[in-house]
Amino acid sequence: MIDRFRSLFALLTLSLLFATDGMHAQQTPSLATSQQIQQDAGDPWWKHAVIYEIYPRSFQDSNGDGIGDINGVTERLDYLETLGVDAIWITPIYPSPQVDFGYDISDYTAIDPQYGTMADFDRLVKEARKRNIGVIMDFVANHTSDQNPWFIESRSSRTNPKRDWYIWRNGKGPGQPPNNWLSWFGHSAWQFDPRTDQYYYHYFYREQPDLNWRNPAVQQAMYNVLRFWLDRGVAGFRIDAVSRLYEDPNLHDDPVLPGTNAYGDPNIEHKYTDNLPEVHDSLRVMRKVVDAYPGSPVLISEADEPNITELTKMYGSKLDEVQLPMDFQVADVNQLSVPKFRELLDEIVHNATGGQPYFFFSNHDQDRAWNRYGDGVHNDDIAKLMAALLLTTRATPQLYYGEEIGMATTPPTRKEDVKDPSGKIGWPKEKGRDGERTPMQWDTSKNAGFSTADKTWLPVPASYKQRNVAVQEKNPDSILNFYKQLISLRRSQPALRDGSYDSLNRQDDQVLSYLRKDPNSGEAVLVVLNMSSQPKTVSYDLKSQGMNAAIVKPLLSNPRESVLSMPLNAVHVAPFETFIGIVQ
Ligand code: GLC
Repeated sequence: MIDRFRSLFALLTLSLLFATDGMHAQQTPSLATSQQIQQDAGDPWWKHAVIYEIYPRSFQDSNGDGIGDINGVTERLDYLETLGVDAIWITPIYPSPQVDFGYDISDYTAIDPQYGTMADFDRLVKEARKRNIGVIMDFVANHTSDQNPWFIESRSSRTNPKRDWYIWRNGKGPGQPPNNWLSWFGHSAWQFDPRTDQYYYHYFYREQPDLNWRNPAVQQAMYNVLRFWLDRGVAGFRIDAVSRLYEDPNLHDDPVLPGTNAYGDPNIEHKYTDNLPEVHDSLRVMRKVVDAYPGSPVLISEADEPNITELTKMYGSKLDEVQLPMDFQVADVNQLSVPKFRELLDEIVHNATGGQPYFFFSNHDQDRAWNRYGDGVHNDDIAKLMAALLLTTRATPQLYYGEEIGMATTPPTRKEDVKDPSGKIGWPKEKGRDGERTPMQWDTSKNAGFSTADKTWLPVPASYKQRNVAVQEKNPDSILNFYKQLISLRRSQPALRDGSYDSLNRQDDQVLSYLRKDPNSGEAVLVVLNMSSQPKTVSYDLKSQGMNAAIVKPLLSNPRESVLSMPLNAVHVAPFETFIGIVQ
């Protein structure tokens, strides 16, 4: 239902966009008919959704304390609606000592007062729903905070009923941890607790003890957390660090690899702490829990799966696990490599399970795509190229706040300014994740319109004076307006919305091309992404796609095309051009 309204809304937006912007008059997208929209309405909403990740601490501060909050998100819902977002994933807003900025939870069924109240949260869900926007919560299943009452009990004595809710083991000998397992954030994954003379296991910071998922009581408690938020009307969950839920009960040492990491530890393969088969048993139960609720709540998994086999396991053999596993391989190609993108896209789009691909390029844990893919000269054009790649394949796309205006990573320059503990542990090699979490740049006012406080929790990058939402809204050629047009096009063009995906010109290692074809009308959209700094002329023969088309008419491009059509055997693209056209 949401999907259907969203599509109608998108049609209106697109017509308005094209009607009011004279410069677009040359571009004549064929709009979806209401009949087609009706047909699509059979799909679950998340298949066609645009999902937007919000790091609430940095999105909008409504009470002037320098920290973003829930009411701030609510204030900005109109912006998100105009952008064309269907759902927001909010990183953790639960009570937390904030060691890992919310990923260390001390109470799973409450709201941290820093972010607001449960009433604020309910209002956010209600206001979002009015705009056909779902709210997706972060489900931090692998570990809690060491301040969580469960852990406080667990560590109190070896005989406490909650002792087995966490993973406690004897050391190998005095001062020696049980084995060589390492924390993701550096050094041993075992922390000695003198109170009971044992070590507890933590994959992440030592303040984040791992739950023992082999204990049925833990499983039940965590499934009840899902139910608690589903009862409040959330649209689903992004499951944090899900591949790490289980570890080898026999505590085998992980294999040691050559070299050392940024923390100075030996490199290891997390063979006994990552991707154990039991993860899938738990995912199937989680899926059953969400499936018992109306509205097709979605499960999104965070797991940096190393290859297509591991990634597709997340769907479940009967598509009975996660609907949208994040594709870290596509996200982290980290260079404009046409062959690499082509291979990865082909693999996942045509994956054997038929599961829906899920793409993103930026998030709160890694440098923003603007920097990772930019060449230092053409970053804005490349940002548009990446936006097109995100929004024109069959994958459900996920945006990270600020990417729609090309926000850059702005890491701290002095160790004493670092907030993320991983940056303190790893300085200067590893600067932590503050750089990709800086406040949203809304306008040119104080603190970029993020907060009225004199000091914000992270500094606002100086770039906000030029780069912000207000300035980009007024510029028809801005990255923001490009995102809006792409999102509208994705909804209104049946070929982009539901069409098949075929990569073209597979020998070309500079220009990534693919065809999206609507199975009902046969209408096809050609996407041409010139990932090189050279102008190119590309020739397409679509006979093997069963088409006799001779020309392509631009729908959307960067830079703007001056021609009304081009012959398919000579499509000219500028350096780093994004070209999307309809073939005829
Ligand atoms: C996930 C989160 C990251 C967090 C970690 C531990 O990877 O995205 O921000 O630090 O889990 O919870």
